[in-house]
Amino acid sequence: MSGIEKIDGYKSPLIFGDDNILYLVDQRKLPQNIEYFKADTLEDVCFAIRSMVVRGAPLIGITAAFAVFLAIKDSDESGFEKDFYTALKELSATRPTAVNLFFALNKMENLYTELKKLNLPIEKLKKRIRAKAFSIWDKQRESDTKIGLNGSEFLGKKDKILTHCNTGELATGGIGTALGIIKTMHKKSLLDTVFVDETRPYLQGARLTAFELKNEGIDYRIVTDSSCGILMRKSLVDAVIVGADRIASNGDTANKIGTYPLAVLAKRHNIPFVVAAPESTIDRTIKSMDEIRVEERDALEVLKINSFDIAPSGSKALNYSFDLTDGNLITAIITERDVYEYPYKF
Ligand code: MRU
Repeated sequence: MSGIEKIDGYKSPLIFGDDNILYLVDQRKLPQNIEYFKADTLEDVCFAIRSMVVRGAPLIGITAAFAVFLAIKDSDESGFEKDFYTALKELSATRPTAVNLFFALNKMENLYTELKKLNLPIEKLKKRIRAKAFSIWDKQRESDTKIGLNGSEFLGKKDKILTHCNTGELATGGIGTALGIIKTMHKKSLLDTVFVDETRPYLQGARLTAFELKNEGIDYRIVTDSSCGILMRKSLVDAVIVGADRIASNGDTANKIGTYPLAVLAKRHNIPFVVAAPESTIDRTIKSMDEIRVEERDALEVLKINSFDIAPSGSKALNYSFDLTDGNLITAIITERDVYEYPYKF
């Protein structure tokens, strides 16, 4: 049964235990309420991804991997394959831009293809699929830690960092990517303060990044998305660090709406503009941004804040959830494996 579960305090963005139920911290409600969304069917998880109960490119992928297991956990021999492929199909249709979703589903499919050759008893097959979801999560945690180290080494001391959206634990299940670098820099005393773009319309910055920075004891100021110009002009930004949802072979990057203007302004002001992401965010099958589908979300996300109308009734809105930044505006792309600089050769 799906629904809301009260768990005392914040534990982790995702909990999956012996009861084989997926608990997702309901990110729509943070930071005011810490509630866990209980998902034990494929449909529950598809709803959670579409409605942003859970979000952030890597965490969407990890969640989808657990959803594949939920979809087959009660299947018998005759229904297993159909249930497995239905899960892949339905999960693929939830959110189009972040490649990590497709990366995780491919990993699950490749595993199943291999396991089929072994003719394992069905319970063993299910166990291996369950274990794979955990291993995708573990690998992401390891990547985050390495990205944090690579990024902090590359940037060195930068007193004032500007970041956009939420790229922390709530987006990856580890320490985060861009936010992982920020946390690592803080631990090494390499930064003083973080400017957090509020990130309209879903407010991932004001609600989620601020929640994580506060928990970590890192000094921060929330700024409106349109503040970046004045901050840079006043020399208040030493580096910009953002995450990514999909990176093309030439370094063109899809990320939360508002990233591209930051990159243009950073170039104008000669400020390092760094993208942090796991290798799984690099989509080597595409050449450039021309092949990236940008998700358009419901106009109501723009027209309302927390179900409160902010525009005249009947207003229309256009809500692109992501934008596209040219690779040549990006100073470096930092992954767990390398620090890539323009011109990109991944
Ligand atoms: O719509 P969201 O909240 O899923 O978008 C999140 C972002 O754009 C993040 O910057 C990106 O997924 C990287 S998360 C490590």
